[in-house]
Amino acid sequence: MPGPADSPLIRALRGERQDRPPVWFMRQAGRSLPEYRELRVGTRMLDACLDPALAAEITLQPVRRHHVDAAVFFSDIVVPLKLAGVAVEIEPGRGPVFADPIRTASDVKRLIRTPPAAITDASGPIREAVGIVAAELGDTPIIGFAGAPFTLAAYLIEGGPSKEHLRARAMMHADPASWHLLATWLAEVAEVFLDAQVTGGASAVQLFDSWAGSLSPADYREFVAPHSRQALGARTGDGSSELTVPRIHFGIGTGPILDDMRLDGLADAVGVDWRLPLDEAAAVLGPDTTVQGNIDPALLQAPWPVLAAHVTDVIERGRAARAHILNLGHGVPPETDPEVLTRIVALAHGEDVA
Ligand code: CP3
Repeated sequence: MPGPADSPLIRALRGERQDRPPVWFMRQAGRSLPEYRELRVGTRMLDACLDPALAAEITLQPVRRHHVDAAVFFSDIVVPLKLAGVAVEIEPGRGPVFADPIRTASDVKRLIRTPPAAITDASGPIREAVGIVAAELGDTPIIGFAGAPFTLAAYLIEGGPSKEHLRARAMMHADPASWHLLATWLAEVAEVFLDAQVTGGASAVQLFDSWAGSLSPADYREFVAPHSRQALGARTGDGSSELTVPRIHFGIGTGPILDDMRLDGLADAVGVDWRLPLDEAAAVLGPDTTVQGNIDPALLQAPWPVLAAHVTDVIERGRAARAHILNLGHGVPPETDPEVLTRIVALAHGEDVA
């Protein structure tokens, strides 16, 4: 039996060039699917994430429907915070909202009193859900994920979604000691959440630093990159990682910090949004990094010939990298017609799509 280790996704992450790029979509599980909307009726988002049978079924839905080359575990970046006892809810149409934003040095001290190991103890439903998916999928790999320290901090410090993440960026300079305490704790939170998913059977992980593009390169390097390295299991010294599976690192608007997103080679692949053509991204990332991306989610609304030409262009440009994983430049918008996603997968797989 070949197993997920020999799947196209994992081979691409190892840097193996293939005739066709493996394909999956960020947010492939979710509101674009009628079968998802039906299952979610009457269940709050975070309750759904902590119900192993439900989370497993939602994870499997897009794999069955679209024949993508990977499942991405259905959960959310705030789930480990919830498991740590933090008061958080996900408001439909808005995003994560925290009852007690972390604004001061004493807020940080209070928060980090909960040891991240408590999350490991509470992660039974996560390990169980991933285990159900792994048993069902066989050779198709599961991607586990976590929110990077900065993106999690941006929500925690603001108390909810924000445009420029001003309060988080302010804390770095106004109270760097508190910032580093908070980010160190969040890195451990991400690490244990990833570990639970890998223990359950995930074959790769993606660290979402969705909002990293709001940082100056200098701030990214000083206040964020070391913590993201820790989240991905970096050992001090030799640059290797405690994690036993390949690592993808993703952010939006990261053009100015793209080389930094490699995290000194810790990331096997870097996810690129729609703003930067993949051949230009590959030139920056060099010969040791796989690229992931970068179909413009806006084009999912375009007539098929327009979208097909765009997808073909993305695939062509992706050949400039050592290997390419086809994806969107950000998540699937909820209003997307799922048939369009199925068609993109067929096109990427070289099937006849009129
Ligand atoms: O990609 C997948 O299919 C896996 C599941 C996944 C979800 N959230 C499910 C979800 C993943 C990987 C995430 C990560 C996540 N969550 C990120 C990083 C990725 C990104 O989009 O940049 C962020 C920033 C969050 C925080 C968050 N959670 C937001 C901004 C929202 C959207 C709020 C809304 O209603 O528009 C959520 C909720 C959420 N997470 C939903 C899903 C399917 C929608 C909840 C619903 O169905 O009501």
